[in-house]
Amino acid sequence: MNTEHATAVAPLAPGTTRSSQYDAFHAARARTDLVARLYAEAMGEDYPAEVAASSSCDWPLLGLMAARLRMSPGQLLVDAGCGTGGIGLWLARALAVRLDGFDLSPVAVAQAAARRSHFLAARADRAVFRVAELENTGLPTAHAHGIVCVDALGRAADRGAALRELGRALTPGGRLLVTRALRRGAEPAWHQQVAAAGLAQEHLDERPQEPAVWERLYRLWIAHGDDLRRELGQAAAEAMLHEAHQVLPTLPRRRAVLLTLRRLPRTPDSPETAARMAELSHPPGRPASIERTPQ
Ligand SMILES: C[S@@+](CC[C@H](N)C(=O)[O-])C[C@H]1O[C@@H](n2cnc3c(N)ncnc32)[C@H](O)[C@@H]1O
Repeated sequence: MNTEHATAVAPLAPGTTRSSQYDAFHAARARTDLVARLYAEAMGEDYPAEVAASSSCDWPLLGLMAARLRMSPGQLLVDAGCGTGGIGLWLARALAVRLDGFDLSPVAVAQAAARRSHFLAARADRAVFRVAELENTGLPTAHAHGIVCVDALGRAADRGAALRELGRALTPGGRLLVTRALRRGAEPAWHQQVAAAGLAQEHLDERPQEPAVWERLYRLWIAHGDDLRRELGQAAAEAMLHEAHQVLPTLPRRRAVLLTLRRLPRTPDSPETAARMAELSHPPGRPASIERTPQ
């Protein structure tokens, strides 16, 4: 699922909620290894099979995140929009940190919890998974030393609110790593939201191979459309095919990055003050809106 493209997700059928749409996808994906096989074919040697993410997560991204987090053993990592948990669990094992993963989908959270002992063996109790939303995480203030958010921020109903919430949960000096996409040549449009969240951009790492991975994956989904319908069911397969057809034409203009955002030692007094500061650095006459980019 490429959730950086808000328009790419099939419209909700009447009576369904956002979480039920993701529940259906995660439940369908668990019934077959077809989706994982197509991700593996699209990524080739860069596919981290054990992680089995529902996203653009490949070996280069995992390595980059491990390095950029700069975490010490025993610290707390949060996996925001964790899906079935493979990314957070892999990082928790590699960095010997505690893990708090959350996702909108109860089905994904249950699958993530069931994977803890595979990754962490006797230390499985170092990881917890919960149902929560990016805009309302339930995390205490200044709690997490690191947060990763892979291909999930684009689905938040209010990305600015989600960034503020994640920034609030970070300890001063802690880091939030988030994947983002923008139109090639366009000016990044998230500066205002980052500043309003009391965060500062520490690194912007290019992910030059990411658009080509999506292109290969979407072409595979379309080529295997009948197999997807048979193995995942009509609704889940149609949602994937809708995404593939919508996003494919945008990929030649896509630029993908990993942002490393650091919580400032002193955050502004209130969200209102922060928003005002951001407004001052980006006057209304010069839009910094993310609407300009196909994220
Ligand atoms: C493309 S998947 C990525 C999952 C995981 N990060 C990975 O890379 O495998 C996006 C995930 O975000 C979750 N999600 C979407 N909107 C959310 C929200 N507002 N709050 C929390 N999770 C959300 C979905 O349930 C889904 O599991």
